[in-house]
Order: sequence, then C-alpha cells, then structure tokens
Amino acid sequence: MNIGTITTTPFTDQKPGTSGLRKAVTVFQKPHYLENFVQSIFNSLEGYEGKTLVLGGDGRYYNRQAIQTILKMAAANGIGRILVGCDGILSTPAASCIIRKEEAIGGIILSASHNPGGPNGDFGVKYNISNGGPAPEKVTGAIFENSKTIDSYQILEAADINIDRPGSFKLGTTSVEVIDPVEPYLKLMESLFDFDRLQQLLTSGKFRMCMDSLHAVTGPYARAIFEKRLGAVEGTVINGTPLEDFGGGHPDPNLVYAKGLVDILFGEDAPDFGAASDGDGDRNMILGRNFFVTPSDSLAILTANAHLVPGYSQGLAGVARSMPTSAAVDRVAEKLGIECYETPTGWKFFGNLLDAGKATLCGEESFGTGSNHIREKDGLWAVLFWLNILAVRSESVEDIVRKHWETYGRNFYSRYDYEAVDKERATELMERLRSMVSDMKGTQYGSYQVDYADDFSYTDPVDGSISSKQGIRIGFTDGSRIVFRLSGTGTKGATLRVYLESYQPDKAKQDVDTQKALASLISLADEIAQIRKFTEREAPTVIT
Ligand code: G1P
Ligand code: ZN
Repeated sequence: MNIGTITTTPFTDQKPGTSGLRKAVTVFQKPHYLENFVQSIFNSLEGYEGKTLVLGGDGRYYNRQAIQTILKMAAANGIGRILVGCDGILSTPAASCIIRKEEAIGGIILSASHNPGGPNGDFGVKYNISNGGPAPEKVTGAIFENSKTIDSYQILEAADINIDRPGSFKLGTTSVEVIDPVEPYLKLMESLFDFDRLQQLLTSGKFRMCMDSLHAVTGPYARAIFEKRLGAVEGTVINGTPLEDFGGGHPDPNLVYAKGLVDILFGEDAPDFGAASDGDGDRNMILGRNFFVTPSDSLAILTANAHLVPGYSQGLAGVARSMPTSAAVDRVAEKLGIECYETPTGWKFFGNLLDAGKATLCGEESFGTGSNHIREKDGLWAVLFWLNILAVRSESVEDIVRKHWETYGRNFYSRYDYEAVDKERATELMERLRSMVSDMKGTQYGSYQVDYADDFSYTDPVDGSISSKQGIRIGFTDGSRIVFRLSGTGTKGATLRVYLESYQPDKAKQDVDTQKALASLISLADEIAQIRKFTEREAPTVIT
C-alpha cells in the first residue's frame, strides 16, 4: 500500500455555505481543489480512524471522479470502512438514513442540490456528522479554518474501485462496500407509513399520481417505492433516470423549474396527485389536481394530520420551521398544545432540536420538509406522508387544504428571488435595511403599521450557540410580514430573497390569487428596501 503525501497550497474560497461547499464544476476541477477541501474535512475531525464513512452523491457531472478521489483519500487517512452507493448514487436523505443505521462517524455527500449540473453547472461537497445531519457551524467553521492553512493531503495510490454494482473491496486496509442505495431507505419508509393502505390506494384504479424526479437522484428510489413496492402503474415516475446534467434542466421542484409536472397537473384529465423532488432528493413539491400546495402550508397540514400516519400517531413532541417559512404551522402547534421553534434558514439548525427530542416535524418554505426519522429534509418521505393522509381521508388535495384554511386561517405566501445580482449592491441593500430596522417599530406605511422589525438572531435552545444576522424581518400589526435575506447557496453574484406573507382568517376572503392578495405588500417591500434600485432589476428571476 502506497500512501502519497501531496504538497498543496490553500484556496481562500472554501467556506461552506448554507449547505456545504458549492462551486462551479470548473472550480472543483482545478488541481487540488477537491482534495484540499476533503482533507480539510478529515483534519477537522477527531477519532475517525477505523470508523465507518458513508459516501455518495446525486449523480451529477463529476460525481464519479470525485468518489474515486475521496475513496482513496479516506483510505489514506485511516477510515476503517466506507459505504458507497452503487453508481455513486445516494440521495441526501438516504445518506442520512445510512449514517444513522450504520453508526458511521459521518458522511460525505456530493451534491449541489437544486443547482444545475453538467460540465458548466455546479458541484458541491457536504459533510454530515454522526447523527446523520449537516455539519453544524462549529464543524463547518473548523473545516474552513483548516482549508486556509492546508499544505498537504493524503491519498492512496491505487486503481479505481468498480462502483457499478454492489460488492466488497479493499483499499489498503480499508474495506469498501458498494451498497444498494435504495434498500435501507425503503425499509425506513416502511416503518413509518401504512404501506398496505398506500398499495390499496395506488392499485385501486381510482387514484392516479405522477412523480417527477427531474432526471435527478430520486428516480431509482421513486421507481422502487411507488412502482415496484406499491404497485403504481409503470410510468407513474417521470424523468426517472438520473442524468449527469439533469437533462439540461434545473432540478428544483417549484412551479418554474418543474414546469412539465405543473402542466400535467393543471392540464386536461390531470392525475389526483403530483410531486417532484430536487437534485439530491431532499426537497419536495406537492400538487393536487389543478392545485399547488405551498411548502409552508404542507408543513402545517402534515402536522395537523400526523395522527393519521402510523409513525407519528403517538403524537408530536414539537415542530420547527425556519424563520422565513410562514406561520401556518404555528397555528396548528398552538391548537395541538406543542412547541413551535423558529430557526434560521438551513436544515442544520433543526439537528439539535431533533436530537434533543424537542421537535418531531420540521420544514422550510423552500420545499423542504422532514422529521426525526433522519436528520435531513426528505422529499419522498413528504410524498409518502401526503399519500398516507390522502389514503386515510379519501378527499382531494384541494379539499384537504381548503378545510385546513377554514379551520386555521390562510397564510398567503410568496417568495421573490433576484438571482445573480451584483454582490456589493445586494450587500448595500441589506446593510441599509439593517441600519433602518432598529427604529422602525410603529412606523406607518399606508395601511400597514410596523409591529416589530429586526435582524433575526437565534439562540439554540439546546447548546446556547448564537447565530446572528439571519435576515431582516419586518412584521406588521395585521399579521403580515416581509423578510429579506441573501442566499447562502448561490454560486454567481448574490441572490436576494424576499419573503412575503399575509394572514386571512375569513373563509369568504380566502379564495383569492396569492399574488393579488400580496400585491400591496409586494410594492411596500420595494418601497422599503428599494429593490429595483439596488438590484437594477424590474422583476424577480423566480417567484414561488
Ligand atoms: C436555500 C433555501 C434553504 C435551504 C437551502 C438548502 O438556502 O432557502 O431553505 O435549506 O437552500 O437546500 P439559501 O440559498 O436561501 O441560503
Ligand atoms: Zn436538495
């Protein structure tokens, strides 16, 4: 066995963002770039020698090459056993599931989530810790510190491992197991949901669904679960073969990028239920026939109906949502008499709450929902949860949502994204807002009066750590709210996100188009933040 120690020099831009290190593929292809970051991960860990590491990715361009490099580096660094998904495939939720089940020290997941792939697209590396969740800030901070001073990395000189089919190999003294990426995940889903009932629903001939995997990682999972295991007709899963460039698409399950699915669900003879997932399988979009369920509403509805689902029928310890997510779930939590936590954006903030048994369900407005079954958000889990509710209630998606609004009121919600705008100008916009918020309380803007305004800061109730500067919140006395923050996952310039929300308890006023319901708030957002001036954009790139 020959371990090479390769001399290198640091890169200055290896600070992990909201979800790992994301860069253009061409950046990752620079000599030593990937290796430096991976070695920085190992350098920041303690006591990993001889332990198990989970490795896989969303199948995007550069996945296979990166896997071979990381296998050899992990072996050279003394990892005892590496579990790698067949074909290099592991969805983010499946990786989280396997880390937990195998009591691994952690996992390296290769994904840039919903960002486009291919030679001109993005690539990413995330490190997840032993609870199966994204590395918390103290770990990502340590990785970044290491990346700034790194001067060498370790790599085994060895031939590539065949990852095309399951099998066991040795790399030096390290065992490498190429595993079925689906089976452990399917088992976990079977333990949570009523698969007999789901099978009856999907084979009844009275219910049709369409799952769009957007040529990303969930294809093999969705086919195995919906078509093979639950008996849905072949063709239920569309775009089910993972492609290195996602077929040229943008693997983000929203109304803009999953347009094919939207056209099916809003077209003639539409199926009863539609869903899509993103590049690495942790996001979900839920559609009914001619009906879109906002992710914030979805979280609230799953919470309100959790008692119908076997894995959650014992009751929920609490729920958690990210700050920009609408307050729809807060109202359900209040009625159930359980705690509702408000965390900064990013799944990593849910980890402590889940570990401490303070929250059972969590969600973000950005099409992410999940629970304590793993420590990541989970796209197919959300789809199965909805199917389980639909099977028990025998009502349409639209009816379920409308009844929910009737009971709890409706939170109109929309997010405006201004992508790839000038970074300096976007930072100026945020700085200006930051300087304004401290004395905004009480200010009247037309019919809106500011109830509170701040730059969101979060104190973790479990470990006391403080995360500040998490986004500007401006709440009004009528329950509506505007939130501004800059994305932590973009790779070009800056992305400004503006989150708009208003509350309507009156059933007679709930059947209004969201953009119409939010129109005055939208123009107020521009008035307050001068969005058009700072972004030099007349309109957002994406509205969800
Ligand atoms: C975005 C979403 C956030 C999500 C993250 C990773 O981060 O807004 O909710 O956790 O992707 O999927 P952002 O780009 O806003 O920092
Ligand atoms: Zn994702």
